[in-house]
Amino acid sequence: MAIRSIARGCGAYLPERIVTNAELAAKVDTTDEWIQARTGIKQRHIAADGQLTSDLAVHAANRAMEMAGVEGKDIDLIVLATATPDHTFPSTATTVQAAIGMSGGAAFDVQAVCSGFIFALATADNFIKAGQCKRALVIGAETFSRILDWEDRTTCVLFGDGAGAIVLEASEGEGPDAQGILSTHLHSDGRFKEMLYVDGGPSSTQTVGHLRMQGREVFKHAVTNLSNVVLEALEANGLEADAIDWLVPHQANQRIISGAARKLKMDTAKVVTTVSSHANTSAASVPLALNVAVQDGRIKFGDLLLLEAMGGGFTWGASLLRW
Ligand code: COA
Repeated sequence: MAIRSIARGCGAYLPERIVTNAELAAKVDTTDEWIQARTGIKQRHIAADGQLTSDLAVHAANRAMEMAGVEGKDIDLIVLATATPDHTFPSTATTVQAAIGMSGGAAFDVQAVCSGFIFALATADNFIKAGQCKRALVIGAETFSRILDWEDRTTCVLFGDGAGAIVLEASEGEGPDAQGILSTHLHSDGRFKEMLYVDGGPSSTQTVGHLRMQGREVFKHAVTNLSNVVLEALEANGLEADAIDWLVPHQANQRIISGAARKLKMDTAKVVTTVSSHANTSAASVPLALNVAVQDGRIKFGDLLLLEAMGGGFTWGASLLRW
């Protein structure tokens, strides 16, 4: 029997402060109608002053560990996806490591922007399958509010802050019917850097910078890349789209989510969507959505989940996971 990573628990955290579209419309030239019609977003959560990405991550991690029935000392790997780390270094993952009382093992960040959680999941899954760790915390955590240009209406209305986490554990299993991660599929294409990037950084400007995006171009690539990677994941496992119980997509835009679901001919009732209340939380968006559907009882033991995401780089990926 092959080693397989199974999901033992998940958790999430959203900052208390909710900012509605109406509140944004009072600051920049936009309207609730425009934002809802183009994106499906109604509101977003924004971190409090002084509340860091690691603070959100620790809350999410503790909730995931509680569901899994484990403590920090039981974890031997943290892979944390973020594009908004607390500091240039050390990694946000090591800050979380200290906070949850985990002193052994390894902790590091991965950077694939909005695809970050899928990249982190793939990394942890491969560590587990290689026998290099037994129990991993995979976290997506972001404070995108800190890198937004709050005067740019084309970007500032789209994003929010939050964190989500999952506990993976080494087990055994084979084939699509066994519990755990069936496969992960990652892609990137650095030629499209200019379409979605931050115009600052320690080496280039010595400033944090702001997010810049060619929204329409990103939209087109997102629909194509996500459709392709989703089909790749199904084909790799000899499955058809009707085998999927729940599509848990990156929550960037309702129209992108609906486009991906349409291509799969999936009933929208089987698509987990949180974009209206969370907006785009980048690496946190997939685990936040997953957690909502687990907590409200939609996702049940044995369900087949298809996770997918696309982000700056470009980066994109998918994973099939039997819960
Ligand atoms: N409020 C009101 N009007 C706005 C606006 C806002 N917040 N933002 C842009 N506009 C205006 C534009 O200035 C433009 O006006 P013009 O026609 O007078 O030039 C018009 O709305 C249309 O802009 P456009 O960018 O073509 O709209 P769109 O239909 O492509 O929607 C996005 C814009 C950003 C919502 C859409 O392109 C998108 O979702 N892209 C993907 C973004 C994404 O998901 N990124 C993250 C990937 S991880």
